[in-house]
Order: sequence, then structure tokens, then C-alpha cells
Amino acid sequence: MKKYKKTSDIKVGVVGYGGAFNMGKKHLEEMQKTGMIPTAVLEIDKSRLAVAGEDFPGIQTYTSIDKMIKESGVNMVAIITPHNTHAKLAMKFLKEGISVVCEKPLAITTAECDAMIKAAKENKALLSTYHNRHWDGCVLEAVKRIVKKGEIGDLIKVNARCGGFGQPGDWWRSSKTISGGIMYDWGVHFLEYCLQIIDAGITEVSGFSKSSVWDTKWAEDTIESEGYAVIRFDNGVWMNLMVTNIDQNIKDGMIEFTGTDGTYIMNHGDYKIIKHKKNGQKTIVEGKNTDSKQDLYYKNVADALTGKEKLVITGEWSRRPIQILDLAVKSAKQGKALKAKHK
Ligand SMILES: NC(=O)c1ccc[n+]([C@@H]2O[C@H](COP(=O)([O-])OP(=O)(O)OC[C@H]3O[C@@H](n4cnc5c(N)ncnc54)[C@H](O)[C@@H]3O)[C@@H](O)[C@H]2O)c1
Repeated sequence: MKKYKKTSDIKVGVVGYGGAFNMGKKHLEEMQKTGMIPTAVLEIDKSRLAVAGEDFPGIQTYTSIDKMIKESGVNMVAIITPHNTHAKLAMKFLKEGISVVCEKPLAITTAECDAMIKAAKENKALLSTYHNRHWDGCVLEAVKRIVKKGEIGDLIKVNARCGGFGQPGDWWRSSKTISGGIMYDWGVHFLEYCLQIIDAGITEVSGFSKSSVWDTKWAEDTIESEGYAVIRFDNGVWMNLMVTNIDQNIKDGMIEFTGTDGTYIMNHGDYKIIKHKKNGQKTIVEGKNTDSKQDLYYKNVADALTGKEKLVITGEWSRRPIQILDLAVKSAKQGKALKAKHK
């Protein structure tokens, strides 16, 4: 990977400056905080390009990727576009030796991730996924208590659930083709949290899904009403992941880790540890999570590009949740468990 002498040598651009969560501004501000230089924005929606120009006066603005590559001088871009565009856009930049931070999910299929990882290596570029939530307080707390302190003993199983009962919106996230499916949004974050705690290779995945309960403007291309995956790991741990728009009785607790000595319930703001003694006595310990440190994402990218630290969120790391989701979607269609190729 090409290294830079100082952070201010890294000229950065963003691709996609959407209005749903104003993520383009967030990325550029976080990159700027590390000392990298916001240089260019590529957007196909001219009204959003105008917003970028107001947020960062003097920044170069483009509607053509070829023109941006040729003229802007950026050496790194953050891709912040709908999911089905990530792989194609990233490949264009990587082939020019321009480093890429891709929003999650890195891509929709494992094959796309592999091509991106190969292109990054061949062209000495950095490839990472913006897993800002790797540093969420909830998972920092869970890693400390479950992995470092062993507070629930040996991990046995993980139950992760999100969603509830409700009509999906008419945005691109509700299109299966564009988003990849119901599990490709929050499901990716949940898997990335859990893979920090389940320290083992992926053995196989069984996927299940129910479609057509809800209708959107995407008609038959509407995302599944529920996606469900059962993941078997090489160390015997198993995990359930449910992302749903049809569960009428969603249980309390975002992610539950059960070990030989107790159950840890991880929520965004707080945690709960439930333990039973063999005589039936039950104890519950509750607490607030440590603060989130999402800014560490771009600090690590800047440190990796200047040779000070190893990259934490590598292409290989960000391929892991995608492999699970890719297998889950294929398994749901085929009606059988599918073996994982990469660990
Ligand atoms: N990590 C997080 O916390 C987090 C939060 C929100 C969104 N996201 C991710 O960010 C990405 C974008 O989501 P969003 O909510 O910002 O979407 P959005 O719809 O608000 O913005 C997407 C923008 O991309 C532009 N675009 C589409 N194709 C393009 C192309 N080929 N070239 C240039 N611009 C193009 C669109 O015009 C649009 O303005 C997704 O991958 C999503 O999962 C991550």
C-alpha cells in the first residue's frame, strides 16, 4: 500500500453527498479532523452537489467519475452511495491506484469483495469499509466484558434481532436489487459487532426469508419482509440474526450473548448481565455503556496511510459480514445450508 509522509498529503474526495443522513458532510468532516484535505465531491444529483459546495466552500465538484479521476488529484475517496453501486465505483478508483473507503456494506456479494480486495493489492491502494460502529460504546463495552474479562464464561450462542412490525419506506433501501435485501443495512452493523466477539471461522449459513407481506413502489423487487440467518462457527458457537418488518412481538434486547456463566444483553445505551446459580438464585447486573469513539475510524485510516498503525478495518475483515449475508440470501432461495469458502 502506498504510504504518505504526512496526513496533509492525503487529498480526499467523496462519492455521493446524499440527503438522507447527510453522510457526505460527516465523512469529509471526520477526514478533515485527522488532517486529510477535503478536495472533491462527485454526485449525480446537482442539487446535492450545490449543498456540498456550500458546506465546503471552494471544494471541487464533479458529475463525471472519469473527470474526477483525471482532474481532481484525490488520492482517497469515500463511496457513500446505494449498495449496488459500491463495487463498480470502487473498482474504477482502485484500478487507478486511488484508495477507497467504502460505506457499509463493502458490496453485495463475496465475489465482488474478492475482486475489490485483489484490485486494491495489485494497485497498492488502501481498501476499507466505513465500519464506524466498530467503535460504538455498546460493542466496546461488550468486548471488554465478554472477551477481555470473560464475565459470561465461554460463549455458546448469539441472538441478534432488529426491526419490528411496520411498512418499509419508499426509498432505495426497500429495493432488493439496490440494497441487496433487508439484512444489508442494519444486519451488516450487527454482524460486524458480533464478529468482534465470536473469534472463529464461519462454517456454514442457513438463510430463511418471507417476502410480499408488504408492498412498496418497488413492487416485486421489494425487500424481504423478514430475513433470518443461522450461522455456524468453527468453534461450535452459533448465531441467529433476524431483520424484520413483520415480527409482532419483537423481544427486548438488541443482541444477546449466552455463555457458560451468564447471558449478556447488549443495547445501544446500556447492558445487562443475567446469571443463575445452580441453586436457582438469579442475579442481574445493569450498567451504562462506555462512550462511542467513532472518530477512531478515520484516525486509524490516516495512521495506516502514513505508516503509523496497521489498518483495523481491512477489506478481508469487511468481507466477513458480506459472506454471511450472501450465503443467507442464496441459502434461503435454495432451502439448504451453504458452506462458507472464506473463514
Ligand atoms: N455507517 C453509517 O452509520 C451509515 C449511516 C447512513 C448510511 N450509511 C451508508 O451510506 C450509503 C449511502 O446511504 P445514504 O443514506 O447516505 O443514501 P442517500 O440516498 O442519502 O445518498 C446517496 C447519494 O448517492 C448519490 N449517487 C448515487 N449513485 C451515484 C453515483 N454513481 N455517483 C455519484 N453519486 C451517486 C445519490 O444521488 C444520492 O445523493 C449506504 O451504503 C448506507 O448503507 C451508513
